[in-house]
Amino acid sequence: MPGMMKAAVLTKPHRFEIEDRPVPEPAPDEVLIRVGRVGICGTDLHIFNGHYAAENLPLVPGHEFTGSIAAMGNDVNGLALGQKVVVDMNIGCRRCYWCRRNEVLNCPDMQQLGITMDGAFTEYVAVPAYLVIVAPSDMDDAVLALTEPLACVVRAARKAQITFGQSVVVLGAGPIGNLHVQLLRTIGAVPIIVTDIAEERTEMALRVGADVAVSDPNELHQTVMRHTDGRGADVVIESVGKSELYAHAQRLIRKGGHIAAFGLTGPDELLELDVLTTILQENSVKGSVAGMGQDMHDALALLRHGRIETDPFTRSAFPLTDIQAAFETIADAPGELKRQIVL
Ligand SMILES: NC(=O)c1ccc[n+]([C@@H]2O[C@H](COP(=O)([O-])OP(=O)(O)OC[C@H]3O[C@@H](n4cnc5c(N)ncnc54)[C@H](O)[C@@H]3O)[C@@H](O)[C@H]2O)c1
Ligand SMILES: [Zn+2]
Ligand SMILES: [Zn+2]
Repeated sequence: MPGMMKAAVLTKPHRFEIEDRPVPEPAPDEVLIRVGRVGICGTDLHIFNGHYAAENLPLVPGHEFTGSIAAMGNDVNGLALGQKVVVDMNIGCRRCYWCRRNEVLNCPDMQQLGITMDGAFTEYVAVPAYLVIVAPSDMDDAVLALTEPLACVVRAARKAQITFGQSVVVLGAGPIGNLHVQLLRTIGAVPIIVTDIAEERTEMALRVGADVAVSDPNELHQTVMRHTDGRGADVVIESVGKSELYAHAQRLIRKGGHIAAFGLTGPDELLELDVLTTILQENSVKGSVAGMGQDMHDALALLRHGRIETDPFTRSAFPLTDIQAAFETIADAPGELKRQIVL
């Protein structure tokens, strides 16, 4: 085991420094992971731009990662050195009301790897052993690094109780919207209608399983009605993060339909709800955030058995030393769905 490692530290917004740091010593209940690949997610970009978690800088971001077990604390059992793993990034206290309900995100003491504490844009990271999920040794790192974002989408579908035969509209065909479409395809939702103001993105969504794509917002309502016999969709997933889209979502669902609140808005944005219609039609809105526990296991299984088209997410890889350029130029490449850092 080397004594020192390279870590990409975001010292202030827009500025990564590659630092030499001591390799962490795992605590008795932790494992040390030799990081293999890490995805750059929208949240990382928000942190880079100073719009999120700025109070936590300097920080090593990175939470969509895979690697192999390099060392283990004395109390860890059931795992072995060299095993390939993915990691649930949400660290709850494991004792409070919410942790016991598997709602770790509501834990008052919750920590998140790469957001509230140092994460995976580094060669080694120590994590609690109970959050480690062993992956098949022959799975590609680039695919495994998609487990966490896919888990977020799995959780959203679970919370929205989407089943086969349901019509679903996905607002936003960014990386996560694309994964929503792919998961809906595996669930058997039909038709899957996707919309994005970027035509390149709706085309990508069509290629991975959407039935209908709309890039002109003015055509969305009539398109949804045409494909749902005038009723509206069973479910609308908001995967953009703009509160004004909820006004549309309320007109796109059928009576008794459901809106899945998923895209992250600003902190004080309000939703204008047509209360009487919601009551009379028994409509619903429900949020979901992140992926954890079973969501991670399910996401891993879907990737393992080839249910998700991963090529559009794994094509663009940068070495850790080029992380600054990888972040700075991400907006110039709308045709990419994901960038990954290779360690
Ligand atoms: N709740 C969760 O668990 C969770 C997890 C991960 C990401 N997110 C959030 O989900 C959202 C989607 O993630 P992403 O990585 O795909 O984001 P992204 O910003 O990369 O993609 C958003 C897409 O929405 C499109 N868009 C913008 N305005 C639009 C409009 N008016 N109508 C239709 N499309 C429009 C953009 O062209 C873009 O393709 C983000 O808000 C992200 O923060 C939530
Ligand atoms: Zn993420
Ligand atoms: Zn807790």
